[in-house]
Amino acid sequence: MTIAVCPGSFDPVTNGHLDIFRRAATHFEEIIVLVTGNPTKTSGLFTIDERVSLIREVTKDVANIRVDSWGGLLVHYTSAHHVTALVKGLRSSLDYEYEVPMAQMNRRLTGVDTYFLLTDEKYGYTSSSLCKEVVKYGGDVTGLVPEAVEAAMKEKLR
Ligand code: PNS
Repeated sequence: MTIAVCPGSFDPVTNGHLDIFRRAATHFEEIIVLVTGNPTKTSGLFTIDERVSLIREVTKDVANIRVDSWGGLLVHYTSAHHVTALVKGLRSSLDYEYEVPMAQMNRRLTGVDTYFLLTDEKYGYTSSSLCKEVVKYGGDVTGLVPEAVEAAMKEKLR
């Protein structure tokens, strides 16, 4: 069984993330979308449980995607769950610079490899933080985040 983890903070999940999960699910037998962060910390717009629920809601149609959360070192989770790969999306060279040291550190720690998928061009400028800012000041993020996420963001931010 080839199991890959898509890790991230996902505060909240965007259509760019979702596109990566769905594409990854065609390359691996099972995908675990892993929301990382300390569940007792209140930083972020959504709690860890809320992020997990939103991702479950928008991935429920894909049989080989499941969602979990983890508050420790990523490689401790991958080793404990027989995960063979990490999958990340890359939007630009900025993402590349940010991701390479983490991929190399994770590989050094346990040998787990990171696979990068290029973000679909229509989501090249989509980020959780930018979407939050746009919604906060009354802008429209239709098409950039799933409808359920947009509704949840409006409820929190307006
Ligand atoms: O969505 P993000 O914030 O860019 O995701 C970064 C994330 C959560 C994948 C990274 O910070 C992470 O792996 N955190 C878990 C703790 C850990 O393993 N840190 C060492 C990374 S080499």
